[in-house]
Amino acid sequence: MSGSIERRFCIQPGGQLTGHLRVPGDKSISHRAVLLGAIAQGVTEVEGFLEGDDALATLAAMRQLGVPIERPSEGALRIDGVGLKGLQAPPGPLDLGNSGTSMRLFAGLLAGQSFASELIGDGSLMRRPMRRVTDPLGLMGASIATTNEGTAPLRISPVKGLKGIDYEMPVASAQVKSALLLAGLYAEGITRIHEPAITRDHTEQMLSALGCPVSQQGGWIEVKGPVTLTSTRIQVPADISSAAFFLVGASIAPNSTVVLEGVGLNPSRIGVIEILQRMGADIVIDPDPVGEGEPTGQLTVRHAPLRGIEIPVELVPLAIDEFPALFVAAACAEGETVLRGAEELRVKESDRIAVMANGLSALGIDVEPQADGIRITGGRFSGGRVHARGDHRIAMSFAMAGLVASGPVDIDGCAEVDTSFPGFVELARGAGLEIEVIEEQS
Ligand code: S3P
Repeated sequence: MSGSIERRFCIQPGGQLTGHLRVPGDKSISHRAVLLGAIAQGVTEVEGFLEGDDALATLAAMRQLGVPIERPSEGALRIDGVGLKGLQAPPGPLDLGNSGTSMRLFAGLLAGQSFASELIGDGSLMRRPMRRVTDPLGLMGASIATTNEGTAPLRISPVKGLKGIDYEMPVASAQVKSALLLAGLYAEGITRIHEPAITRDHTEQMLSALGCPVSQQGGWIEVKGPVTLTSTRIQVPADISSAAFFLVGASIAPNSTVVLEGVGLNPSRIGVIEILQRMGADIVIDPDPVGEGEPTGQLTVRHAPLRGIEIPVELVPLAIDEFPALFVAAACAEGETVLRGAEELRVKESDRIAVMANGLSALGIDVEPQADGIRITGGRFSGGRVHARGDHRIAMSFAMAGLVASGPVDIDGCAEVDTSFPGFVELARGAGLEIEVIEEQS
């Protein structure tokens, strides 16, 4: 939870979404720009950086590790890279707030340093599973202590050196893959990681842009350490995970047409578009001219009737952060939507299966949560009160549900929306969502 402010969204139904919008920068790419720019040689200039709490937590931690980072204007960073060996012991624990990506990627980066460090976070982050990174890092020779439950604080002790390993990840996780790749930069020999399904490859792409080729073959990703990274310019696209709320909102609210500009269209992230299109959504993709960074494009979404589907299991990692919004789409679709193979949703910023199931049924939707997914029968949202449990994506998803409810929808526990989407309320209101924010000291 951020401080002691309680924030509630109050949505009046009946709105429609229209306009040209640009959502903030991609969270995953923003983290990686700071982490990799910091250990490159030379100055890395970043544009489109997400000034949300999660990415700012990575930035603040990196400054504590002795890396000079300027913020010359909104969304711009100037990172004075210190090189692979230039990080310094931090003055105290690194507080990564709500950000699982920061904690897992820093675990990999700091595992091979010659100084000790400690990683902590907020209540939600301190409950999330960390053995998925500390176990394989231990196989590489790292020394990282967790609690008995395998949670933070992570206490990282200096070790003589790391060695490359071959590691088959039991869960498809870009955070684990990235942590091991970062550790692999410091390791002797080759670090090979196998992913059971394709996950976002921003780390691989950025490493290649910084002069460290990463080979990818048959599900194996390989990096050879130690390496030197060379600074570059990084353009951060608009975050498809934030665009997803408008893709769903405009799909379900009659008379809506929204154009989303400059959205990142990395193939490992566009599962949400594919799933919505399979449900009947009207989404047109206009790719931007190919530039230096990751692919981007303009998305035009118009209201369309949706139908329930069985979500193909191979699309799950490609849409892993968009399921709260997709559940809202499913609740408005004709027939049943079935999701399986998504147990990871239970260990995100909240248990997203349980919290979404509770909220959907509070709004009159028939749901059947399962250990690894959910079955949702489309219907009509009633008005009512739901709780986002401090999960940013759940708060924004239920805000979109309010567009088509039969009465006002109140959403408690919305303070964390700024972790990924600063300015959400203003942008959504400008597009036509009738949203009020009530803040209370708790
Ligand atoms: C992320 C990877 C995903 C995603 C998270 C961001 C990343 O987590 O849910 O929001 O930036 O690498 P997992 O890799 O644990 O699935």
